[in-house]
Amino acid sequence: MNEVREAIATAFEVRPLTSEDRTWVQRVLRQYWASTTQVARGRVFQADELPGFGAWRGSEPVGVITYDIHGAECEIVTHNAMAGHGGIGSCLLAELRTLARERACSRLWLVTTNDNVPAMRFYQRRGFDFVAIHRDAIAQARRLKPEIPDTGMDGVPIRHEIEMEQKL
Ligand SMILES: CC(C)(COP(=O)(O)OP(=O)(O)OC[C@H]1O[C@@H](n2cnc3c(N)ncnc32)[C@H](O)[C@@H]1OP(=O)(O)O)[C@@H](O)C(=O)NCCC(=O)NCCS
Repeated sequence: MNEVREAIATAFEVRPLTSEDRTWVQRVLRQYWASTTQVARGRVFQADELPGFGAWRGSEPVGVITYDIHGAECEIVTHNAMAGHGGIGSCLLAELRTLARERACSRLWLVTTNDNVPAMRFYQRRGFDFVAIHRDAIAQARRLKPEIPDTGMDGVPIRHEIEMEQKL
């Protein structure tokens, strides 16, 4: 079984995004996040303009992570695997963690929403911990990004920002 998992996990490659990737990155961001705009802690990002890493199976994009480095902090702005549970999300995260350490960041962090229980599980299993629940922060985020739906995963109302971090 381990060999099978390894074979699947090595069937893609991860490399930094370039300007040539912009069109498919925009497509993915619109599909998963309703827009290329992302809002976290009151900051607005054009995520398709951010640096990041992509994952490819042959010529097909299968994952993307975008980030923003601010001082000694590296924020994960978006993180998507289009073919889940194949190790893509973990590889993208590992690549970004390495880069953040190289850039002397002391903190890797992200914001997710209260409905996204699978993401909370995923990041906790990879060394992240909770920093804060920013209660009702999504009401403000919705003013900046009206596309944020009222309900998210499993029909759970999207209301709070959940901040998670890993010390580097
Ligand atoms: C969060 C996300 C990026 C994770 O990506 P992923 O590719 O599914 O993650 P991985 O495959 O690396 O890990 C997921 C699980 O699959 C398992 N897995 C990894 N390779 C595997 C394989 N070859 N076969 C079976 N399972 C495998 C991992 O062990 C992991 O399980 P664990 O958490 O119990 O250890 C992805 O679920 C996603 O796109 N979510 C929607 C967007 C989102 O919520 N983003 C985060 C907030 S910005």
